[in-house]
Amino acid sequence: MTSDCTGQRLSACVGLLVLVVVTQTCSGSKPKPDPRPATELWGEMKAVVSVKELMRDMLDPIADNIFDAVSIVDDKNGTVEKVPKTEEDWEKIRIGATTLAEGAYLLKVPRPFAPPGDLNNSTGPGAVELSPDQITAKLKADPVEWNARIEALRNVGLETLDIVRRKDVKELWDASENLEQACENCHRSYWYPGETPEFYGRLDRRLRDLQRSRAVGPARH
Ligand code: HEC
Repeated sequence: MTSDCTGQRLSACVGLLVLVVVTQTCSGSKPKPDPRPATELWGEMKAVVSVKELMRDMLDPIADNIFDAVSIVDDKNGTVEKVPKTEEDWEKIRIGATTLAEGAYLLKVPRPFAPPGDLNNSTGPGAVELSPDQITAKLKADPVEWNARIEALRNVGLETLDIVRRKDVKELWDASENLEQACENCHRSYWYPGETPEFYGRLDRRLRDLQRSRAVGPARH
C-alpha cells in the first residue's frame, strides 16, 4: 500500500490508513465472540438415578427449603405466620432456589423414569398413574412440552433467587405458590393424568357413601 501513496492519492491513503487504524483499534477492544454455541457442553452428561429417584432424593426434599420458608400455622395461641428473618433463613431459601434452578436441567439428561420393575400405580382398576413406558412414549412424542415444564421449574428457581437478593417476603409467598404449580403441572401431565376432575368427583362420591354407611352403622342382616 505504501508504494501507492504518492501525489494526489496521498490524502486518500492517509485517510485509509486512519480508517484501518481506527477499525483495528475498535475491533481489538471488542471481546472475541465465543465460537462454541452456548448450548454445547464441556463434556458428556450421564444420569445416575431414575426420574422418580431424582424427585425423591433431590428435587422434592430441596423444594421444602422454599415451601417451608413461609407458612401460616393455626395453634391454640392463634394464627402464627412463619417467614424468614435471619441470614440463615434466607441462605436456606437460596440453597433451595439454586439447586432447583440448576437441578431442573438434570431432567434433560435421558434416564429411566422409575427403577427397573417399578410400574408406578399404573395397573389395576382405577389406576391413575402412567407406567414408566407410557411416560417415555409421551415424552418422545412431544419433547417440547417436557422441556417447557423443565423451564417452568427453572424459572421459579430464578425468580426465587431474585427474591432472596431483595429479601422480599411478600413475593416469597407467590414464589412458593408458583413452585407448587410448576411441580403439579408436570405431574398432572406426565405422572397421573388419570387424576381428572371426574376422578375426584368419583372419589368424593365414594367418600361420601363411606361416611354415610359409617353414620348408619354396619348393615343389619
Ligand atoms: C418436568 C416434569 C416434572 C417436574 C417439573 C417435577 N416433577 Fe416430580 N415427577 C415427575 C415424574 C414424571 C414423576 C413420576 C416418575 C415415575 O414414577 O415414573 C415424578 C415423581 C415425583 C415424586 C414421586 C417420587 C416417589 O418416590 O414416588 C415426587 C415426590 C415428586 N415428583 C416431587 C416433585 C416436586 C416437589 C417438584 C417441584 C419442586 C417436582 N416433582 C417437579 C416429573 C416432574
